[in-house]
Amino acid sequence: MYFALMFLLKQLNLVQFRNYIQKQFVFKDRIVGIVGPNGTGKTNVLDAIYYLSFTKSYFNRPDAQNVHHAYQGLRIDGVYESNKVLSNITCVIRENLKKEFSFDNEIYNKLSLHIGKIPCVMIAPDDVQIITGTSEERRKLMDSLLSQIYPDYLKYLIAYNKVLQQRNSLLKLAAESGSLDSILLETLNEQLVKNGEIIFEYRQDLLKKYLLNIISKYTHIAGQNDQIQIAYQSQLLGQNLDKLLEQSLSKDKILQRTSVGIHKDDLIITIQGQPFKQEASQGQRKSLLFAIRLAEWEFIKEIKGLSPILLMDDIFEKLDERRMIQLLEWVSKYNDGQVFITDTHQQRVSELLGTHLKSFQVIEL
Ligand SMILES: Nc1ncnc2c1ncn2[C@@H]1O[C@H](COP(=O)(O)OP(=O)(O)OP(=O)(O)O)[C@@H](O)[C@H]1O
Ligand SMILES: [Mg+2]
Repeated sequence: MYFALMFLLKQLNLVQFRNYIQKQFVFKDRIVGIVGPNGTGKTNVLDAIYYLSFTKSYFNRPDAQNVHHAYQGLRIDGVYESNKVLSNITCVIRENLKKEFSFDNEIYNKLSLHIGKIPCVMIAPDDVQIITGTSEERRKLMDSLLSQIYPDYLKYLIAYNKVLQQRNSLLKLAAESGSLDSILLETLNEQLVKNGEIIFEYRQDLLKKYLLNIISKYTHIAGQNDQIQIAYQSQLLGQNLDKLLEQSLSKDKILQRTSVGIHKDDLIITIQGQPFKQEASQGQRKSLLFAIRLAEWEFIKEIKGLSPILLMDDIFEKLDERRMIQLLEWVSKYNDGQVFITDTHQQRVSELLGTHLKSFQVIEL
């Protein structure tokens, strides 16, 4: 018999995490609203939940910034339930900022081994970076998705980035000293090609399905497709990485860094043939961001058979009524995983959730 697995977060204990000195949350429902005025710690709760899935903050903050100002060290504890079995996930940051992550009291040797265990998707106002930011943001989107689905992917990516750094250092050294260690370069090239080609295959495969689903989610939320297109752009689409490295060597020597590889990949988003970043209205932009995240959620569920926890930060502030209804309909009908929604208006969140759901929990901060 097939049934979708999921993890439900039942309890969250925060010690010295951002504005929380000591706080316990008990979550009783699949759908949880977290409400309170500005600055009361709603986003911080979502970030703590994100932390337990990704071993780090959604906001790319260094760990030290997550420790309450007046203290040293922090602790985040989550109790999850899956098929009636409880699991404990704990993150401790010691006073010397050493981070320990454990699953049922067993400490991980490497943090990366935890990624993907509790799948999680965050929708946050900062996501606009995916559209307006540099290509790095869009690579991060692909990487975060692939790492959650395929543990090996993260291994290849870490290896690739390490070799890339070594190759760049070698090019720098060569420029300074006037001579290039060609045997070392060849070894590094080999490793770069080996890992880079695999990452390329993963990304290409993922995007075939994922990109189409983004468009379909967009159409669902917006009610029309607005002729949006998203394409994967990679130098490796036209040429093997070893050839590319060979051709760009003289250029790389001048630049003192590696100018070709999967670290240059991007997603090209257009609306009616024009760059989405410049052309799209704010509403279209928001709709696309939701579509990207919902497609991400569905993709993880399809491949892992595990419904990710969905974290929705401040979503109502940004949406017109129609889109709000479409989005909540998706959350309550198609999504069967746990959802955390923050809002500044207790009444609004209760009314909106009440139209779609029989049972939900609202926590006031
Ligand atoms: N390291 C820290 N130590 C203590 N307090 C912190 C720390 N980092 C952030 N804060 C506090 O946390 C609060 C912000 O919390 P958060 O962003 O979760 O609020 P919010 O409820 O999401 O607000 P909004 O409705 O404006 O989005 C701020 O008041 C900030 O001062
Ligand atoms: Mg907030």
